[in-house]
Amino acid sequence: MSYGTRAAERLAGKTILITGASSGIGSAIANELADTAKGNVRLILVARRLLRLAEIKKNLESKYPGIEILPWELDISDFKRIPTRIKELPKDWSKIDVLINNAGMAQGADLVGSLEIEAIESVYSTNVIGLVVLTNLIVAQMKERNKGDIVMIGSISAYEAVPTSSLYGSSKACLLSFTEALRKENISNRLRIIEVDPGLTETEFALVKFEGDSEKAKKVYSGYEPLTTYDIADVVVFNLTRAENTVVASTSVVPNNQASCTFTYRQ
Ligand SMILES: NC(=O)c1ccc[n+]([C@@H]2O[C@H](COP(=O)([O-])OP(=O)(O)OC[C@H]3O[C@@H](n4cnc5c(N)ncnc54)[C@H](OP(=O)(O)O)[C@@H]3O)[C@@H](O)[C@H]2O)c1
Repeated sequence: MSYGTRAAERLAGKTILITGASSGIGSAIANELADTAKGNVRLILVARRLLRLAEIKKNLESKYPGIEILPWELDISDFKRIPTRIKELPKDWSKIDVLINNAGMAQGADLVGSLEIEAIESVYSTNVIGLVVLTNLIVAQMKERNKGDIVMIGSISAYEAVPTSSLYGSSKACLLSFTEALRKENISNRLRIIEVDPGLTETEFALVKFEGDSEKAKKVYSGYEPLTTYDIADVVVFNLTRAENTVVASTSVVPNNQASCTFTYRQ
């Protein structure tokens, strides 16, 4: 994909931390960044599954021998541990130019009244508290340098409350409000706050939501042509590689047959 002649220049040498880089949209963003920067970029890949991250590192290094990649284990829902894990980053990886808050999940499809405590805790601690704790740490260092980009991967679920999606939808609505406040708080400096809200995208998301039940997960996509992870990565990297004074503040990205969470055309 081409993002204009300056895209590679604008990414050159930057240290970019991507949460949820072990699969789906996060790993596609890592690949797309490496391709766009022609390997001249430093990626901190964050997730719980280190083996997956190691595989992504190996593939990218074989494609771009000069690329620098640091796989970093972190369970974002274990939010009290985040400050320590960030402090533990090697010194030459500790200055983050771009933070991509992508890790996120849904768990189950229950009505309020039947929600499992464990699901309530996992969804909010991953999608909200972990994201806020990490962003708080990274924004502090970006403000000191008066520079940096934060990308939030939200969801169109934030715009429309849907039965059986109370936890996930409200967690993404919270992200939306947090992101808007963050953008306003940083109006006088050079931080850019960029939000991308995907619609239906084929990833492991549905498999995680239905706790490994592949039949249920498949049904989520049947009759649709969902977006691919690269469709979203494309938009994220496009937004990130605009000129320094250009903020693509909020983008909603849906497949052709989806107008909202519930207004869709299924073949
Ligand atoms: N797929 C869609 O239709 C869709 C639509 C709108 C928005 N989104 C959003 O897109 C983002 C990426 O999801 P995806 O669709 O790419 O799903 P995915 O394939 O399941 O990827 C989720 C990623 O998040 C990581 N993650 C989950 N919980 C984590 C935790 N506690 N600590 C650290 N990392 C964690 C996972 O890594 P580990 O398991 O290795 O930790 C994985 O890399 C999410 O924020 C999701 O809400 C997805």
